[in-house]
Amino acid sequence: MADKKPGGLADVVAGETAICTVGHEGEELHYRGYSVTDLAEHASFEETAYLLLYGSLPHDTELKRYRRTLASLRQLPPDVLAILERLPGTAHPMDVVRTGCSALAVFEPEEAGRSQTAIADRLLACGASMLLYWHRYHRTGIRLETASDSEEESAAAHFLRLLHNRRPDELHTRAMDVSLILYAEHEFNASTFAARVTASTLSDLYSAVTSGIGTLRGPLHGGANEAAMELIEAYANPDEAEQGILQRLAGKERIMGFGHRVYKVRDPRSDIIKTWSRRLSDQAGDRRLYDVSERIEQVMMREKRLFPNLDFYSASAYRLMGIPTAMFTPVFVLSRISGWAAHVFEQRAGNRLIRPSAAYTGPPPSPWLPIEHRM
Ligand code: COA
Repeated sequence: MADKKPGGLADVVAGETAICTVGHEGEELHYRGYSVTDLAEHASFEETAYLLLYGSLPHDTELKRYRRTLASLRQLPPDVLAILERLPGTAHPMDVVRTGCSALAVFEPEEAGRSQTAIADRLLACGASMLLYWHRYHRTGIRLETASDSEEESAAAHFLRLLHNRRPDELHTRAMDVSLILYAEHEFNASTFAARVTASTLSDLYSAVTSGIGTLRGPLHGGANEAAMELIEAYANPDEAEQGILQRLAGKERIMGFGHRVYKVRDPRSDIIKTWSRRLSDQAGDRRLYDVSERIEQVMMREKRLFPNLDFYSASAYRLMGIPTAMFTPVFVLSRISGWAAHVFEQRAGNRLIRPSAAYTGPPPSPWLPIEHRM
């Protein structure tokens, strides 16, 4: 890969955090000291969110209580449902989640004495409800019941059940659970930094999360998983993909789902989601997307020394779970709310306004120019 360009705050240490390390030990990722590889192997998303938000892994009873708390918070106020109904069915789901988060702030404001942890739990619990209530209503006219169907229903099972209107099978539920773990947190990435900047002005948690959602939407950040899907789906087979990618590279196109600002050699999350994409393909008896993806990976390594990031194999995994492409980045939101909120708590605990300086590149000071003398 070419040398990194200046700018973009690359390699700038912009603050301290005890939540996460990216690429410090080899090319590993740790949440509060625990490797993401171990979390994806052994933990659930709820356990991971608890770790991020509350600082340590929960005991058995704490985890049960936490699952029950989240499962009890999935319904939305009628006024928020009415707003979701008024949004156009053609809206981008990221706009829907961003608006839903903002709307909830109006009806359940932080200023009314709600604790920051209660709000984080609420947003984590009902993000999927917003997205899928809107989705179902605009496609079928049905007003979806978003409450959990059991007292410990997981976020993964809740999302897939609401999307498909049936209980998901075990493989899909665990694949989604792992995906939520992998997307939960990533240090000072663009959206988390945006959330911290918002929190540093002493604004409310909903505003910080809304800033995060807006920042995540772009294709250089969370939007890359949607762009990667469009790319992969454009090819019927691996040979076609190879030709297509070579052409795009010759045209200096950026291939979404490849490269990373911090990782230099590999994204540890990619290997994990790749394994899940393979399992889902085998279960479906359909390897097309996986084989096309693998060939693109090989070409990108051979031609550009670029490796896939988490977004690349998430695309085929999500498609195999029947998730519409426009919902890929919103799913990222449902998970990353945990990381954003943990960072807001940390920012607040040692707050100082985030307000950097800029190197000025404009004209030198000049005398006032009356309007009649302007050219
Ligand atoms: N496809 C093709 N070339 C890429 C590339 C990609 N996905 N990612 C980086 N490069 C190239 C750039 O063209 C640039 O080459 P140049 O200097 O000849 O123009 C060089 O590598 C450095 O890229 P740069 O954008 O300066 O690096 P960065 O650290 O600012 O960018 C990303 C990091 C993630 C924004 C970048 O790799 C990218 O755009 N990836 C695709 C989007 C994506 O997957 N985002 C999700 C990230 S988790």
